[in-house]
Amino acid sequence: MYEGKDMLSAHRGMNISNDEFVAVLDDAMQALEKNGIGQREKEEVLSIFFSMKGDIVHV
Ligand code: HEM
Repeated sequence: MYEGKDMLSAHRGMNISNDEFVAVLDDAMQALEKNGIGQREKEEVLSIFFSMKGDIVHV
């Protein structure tokens, strides 16, 4: 079970830009690719990340 901070309190005040957000997603996708994760699973992870964007970018 996840016991860390929620995404808004973890990233609030960091002034994270859209480009920075995309760069992190890019790195994550490359890591999945490198480890042979399938396309469908990569898309699933991507969509989970995007669902968190509003709590991370410019908050
Ligand atoms: C979907 C994308 C992201 C997810 C799922 C994510 C997740 C997390 C999590 C779980 C934590 C730890 C919270 C805690 O302390 O309990 C964290 C902390 C942090 N995140 Fe993110 N993050 C994302 C994007 C980003 C981006 C785009 C940046 C900056 C470019 C960023 C910078 C940081 C920093 C600096 C910390 C604090 C590290 C520390 O002081 O320990 N995150 N993030």
